[in-house]
Formats: sequence, C-alpha cells, structure tokens
Amino acid sequence: MVVGVFQNTLHHSFLFLTVLVRRFLIWKNGSRGKQVSPITDPILKLSAVELASKIRNKELSSVNVLKAFIARVDQINPLLNCVVDNCFDKALEDAQVADDLIASGKYTSEELADQKPFLGVPISTKDNIRVKDLLFSAGLWTRRFVRAHEDGDAMALMREAGAIPFALTNVPELCMWWECLNPIFGHTNNPYDTNRISGGSSGGEGVIQSAGASAFGLGSDIAGSIRVPSLFNGIFGHKPTKDTVSLEGCFPPPSSVEQGSLLSIGPMSRFSCDLRPVLKVLTKSKSEILGLEEHVDIKNLRFFYQKDDGGGLFVTPIEEDQQTAMERLLDHLSAFATTKPVEAKLDELKNSFKMFMSNFKDNSGIHFDHQFANYDGYMNPWIELMYWIFGKSNHTIFSIFVVLMDKFEATYGSPKHSRLVQEKNNLRSKIQDLLGDNGVLIYPTQPSCALYHYETLIRPYNISYTAIFNCLGFPVTSVPLGLGVKEGLPTGVQIIGNFNKDRLCLAVAEHLETVFGGWVEPGKF
Ligand SMILES: *[C@@H]1O[C@H](CO)[C@@H](O)[C@H](O)[C@H]1NC(C)=O
Ligand SMILES: *[C@@H]1O[C@H](CO)[C@@H](O)[C@H](O)[C@H]1NC(C)=O
Ligand SMILES: *[C@@H]1O[C@H](CO)[C@@H](O)[C@H](O)[C@H]1NC(C)=O
Repeated sequence: MVVGVFQNTLHHSFLFLTVLVRRFLIWKNGSRGKQVSPITDPILKLSAVELASKIRNKELSSVNVLKAFIARVDQINPLLNCVVDNCFDKALEDAQVADDLIASGKYTSEELADQKPFLGVPISTKDNIRVKDLLFSAGLWTRRFVRAHEDGDAMALMREAGAIPFALTNVPELCMWWECLNPIFGHTNNPYDTNRISGGSSGGEGVIQSAGASAFGLGSDIAGSIRVPSLFNGIFGHKPTKDTVSLEGCFPPPSSVEQGSLLSIGPMSRFSCDLRPVLKVLTKSKSEILGLEEHVDIKNLRFFYQKDDGGGLFVTPIEEDQQTAMERLLDHLSAFATTKPVEAKLDELKNSFKMFMSNFKDNSGIHFDHQFANYDGYMNPWIELMYWIFGKSNHTIFSIFVVLMDKFEATYGSPKHSRLVQEKNNLRSKIQDLLGDNGVLIYPTQPSCALYHYETLIRPYNISYTAIFNCLGFPVTSVPLGLGVKEGLPTGVQIIGNFNKDRLCLAVAEHLETVFGGWVEPGKF
C-alpha cells in the first residue's frame, strides 16, 4: 500500500519533470527549427534496387549517380551534420570502373543482377563499422584520428555485391546512446526539424537516408540503434535474427558470444524493396535458412499487437501521434487480414529495461567504464561529471550517465541477474509459442516521435521498447507510417517475427509501404 503510493507519486513526479524539461527546451531553442531543403534531382528519389537496375541497363551511369549524391551531401550537411568523413574521389574512381565493366559487355545484365546486384550504387554507413580508408572513431575523442585499413565483413560483402562506399555518418559516443551527439562532431539534426534529434546510434545514417543524400546504408543495433533512427527519420530499418550477419569490424566489439547475440548489422533505406536484397547479401549462405526468396501470404498471417509495455515505472505513456498511427494500422489489418489482429497481453514487457540491462552483462569483466576509455584505463564517472560541469570533459553527459547507470544495475552472476536472465528466457519461449511459423507482433518503436536535443537524458528508459528484442534475439523491421498530425514528425511501429522469420517482417513492411505511403520526403511542409 505504502509502496504503491510511493511508486505512484514517483511516477507522476517523473512525468511532471518530463513536461518541465520539454517546456524548458522549447523556451531555450524554439518549438520548431529548420527543415532540410527539398530534393530536386530525380536520381535521388530512386531506391537502391532501381538505381542498380538503371545502371546495369545503361540508363544511368554510376558516375552521374554518385555525383548526384555527393552534391546532395554537400547541400545538406551544413544544416544536418550527418556526414563525418567521405572518400568521394576514390568512390568516383570505383564508379568509373563499374561503368567500364558494364560498357565492356563482358557480362549480360542478368548475370550482373545475379552476381553484383548493387553494381555502381553508392552506399553509406556509420562511424563504427570499418570502411577501408575512412575514419573509425565510434565518436570517442581518443579515437578521433583512428582510421580503418580494411572493410569489416558486412561492408566487404556489400562491396563484393558492387556497392560503392562513399560517406561515413555520425554516431553517439561509443554508439551507446540514442541521441546522436559526440565530443568530436557534435549533434546530428533531424531533417524534418533541426531542433529535434536524429536518434541513435545510427543517427547520422537515418538522416542521410531520409534527406535523400545516400541510396541506402548499413546500421548496427544493440538496443535499437537501427530502429530508433529509422523511426525518427521516417525510413525503413531491419535488425536481422541474431547471429545471422557477421559482426567483424564493428566497434566496440561484443565482449563475449553472449553479448554478440544482442548485436546485429542490418540495412537502412527509404524504400522497403531494398531491405531484402541487402539482407540476402549480408547473410550469404545463411540466407537460405531465412528463406528470403519464399513467397509470404500476408493476408493469412496472424497479427498480434501490444500498444505499450504495460507501464514501466519510468516509462512515458505513448504519445498521441504514435498512438494514432498504431490505431490506423490496426484498423487497416482488421479489414485486410483473414483473421483480426489479436492483443498479445505480454505483461512481462513491463520489465523490459531491467531484463535488457541484465542480459547485456557477461563474464568478460569488460564494462562501459573501460570501453569509454577506449580499453585503455577506466573512466571515473564522478570525476568526469565534475569535468563536464566545468565544460572540460572529453565525454558527453550521456556517456557519463551510461557508466553510472551500469554501476547501479544487477551484477553478473548475482541472484537478481540470474532471475532476470530466467525471466528473459521465459518471455522468449512465450513469444516463440505465440508467433509460431506464421505470426508477427506489432509494437511501438518508441513512445514518442523525435525528441528535442538533450531530452533523451530524462527519458533513458524509453529505449526499452526496442532493446528488449535485442536480448530476445528476434528479427525486427522498423516501418514508417507517415507524419503525425500534431507534431508533423514521422511515426511508425516495429514488426517482430520469430527466429529466422525475417521474411515475414519484411513482407509486412512492403505491404504497409503501399498502404501508408512509407517515407515522406522532408522539407516540403
Ligand atoms: C538547439 O538547436 C540546435 C540545432 O538547431 C542544436 O544543435 C542545439 O544543440 C540545440 N540546443 C539545445 C539546448 O537544445
Ligand atoms: C519514456 O520516457 C518517459 C519519460 O521518461 C516515460 O514516462 C515513459 O514511460 C517512457 N516510455 C517507455 C516506453 O519507456
Ligand atoms: C581531453 O583531451 C585532451 C587531449 O585532446 C587532453 O589534453 C585533456 O586532458 C583531456 N581532458 C580530460 C578531462 O581528460
């Protein structure tokens, strides 16, 4: 009883505080910022798949396509600050090589489509995935001069498939926050409203895609890093089933096999049609286990939904625009699908944040304080906080907060930790049984649309909506559902599938794009 009253008071004080913080930020910086300028070059409005087809059929040259994207990067970057490094000259050489190969007639267009499905198409990725000759800083001040000498596995596969890396995008420090800010490059801004965040950790990647400055990209996701920026920037993003894509070349590297199973590298794009062929390239021989070519009968899928996590103590309620998007989606499915969507009633999701934090831990002995020091010594968060207050820290306030938060969660092997691991295993079995071979779960990606800069600090627990599926390991696609009426910002949901059922998530994403319109170009309102 007393505990109940206390929790209730705490919850309401917390909600009140989140309102105060938003008022303050609006007072300080204005309620709306700028928008990116509209896209004028029609090349920039094509999917990666369409570009590849036009390039190999000689309707467009790879060099001209690349030049169009480079010009767009130069146009948007001063406002959005999403690109932190590039290899434009080398990429133009690669594009010429692709055009020459096509002109030589050595391969037919069909052979090229089969062997080099993305020949000549520019690709970008974030500054924690190794790309030969580009920066590899992960936003850490101590790594600001570190460069990659080789591609990581995922980018090497994309290069083999003909794609041409040309730009590297901004991330939060160590990729361990969902607001894209680091001490080297600063904030990345949302293309729909520069006073809002781009999300994280693939924040720069979400922005470069949404603003039409890259054809497609790779992200990595250990707690929502593909899905949150996909939501905030109104694009598609897919976190593959655990252990299907090589993580080699990702920083920080997972410190154990256990922790690696939470992390996935996957595609981000404005167009759903790009996700499946990229996933096929990234998963290589495993793509057969995923059955990516199999037809999916969407009308006869079983749809489950859950509108929120059931009220975590420090979790904000789902905001109006996201709620409306979910309702419209459910209305559509009720009319369209053979069986009506069923409420999932997964009460366990209430404990998502704790489950995630515990299952993130392993017995490697490596903690955030060591990783934020680039594995050379340890960050003392209390001392760092002092430096930060005087503007002298080489870390962001978020990183200091992450290290502090880590110290307060259950330690590996403790009874509390074991209980939370067990709780996760139970929830995983329950969802496996629920979804079977033919079901998908619809769940919010975040309770709100893109927040104001620094607002994430007061809502750290909101990441639990995505993070829970990292410790469960299921495949998830983040699907945009148009702009909200109230805030004018992108809305969307997550589509979750059973293990290796990535194709169901992707097929639903493709269907919803035709119904709800998918990506909405920013800068036109
Ligand atoms: C104000 O907005 C700019 C971008 O428009 C952003 O870079 C800055 O961090 C914001 N400041 C605050 C306090 O929100
Ligand atoms: C998001 O954060 C807000 C404020 O911190 C909280 O009220 C809300 O319950 C959170 N939502 C989730 C889903 O965690
Ligand atoms: C931040 O980094 C600079 C070197 O770039 C170093 O001189 C300074 O001592 C560092 N500050 C702190 C508080 O560690």
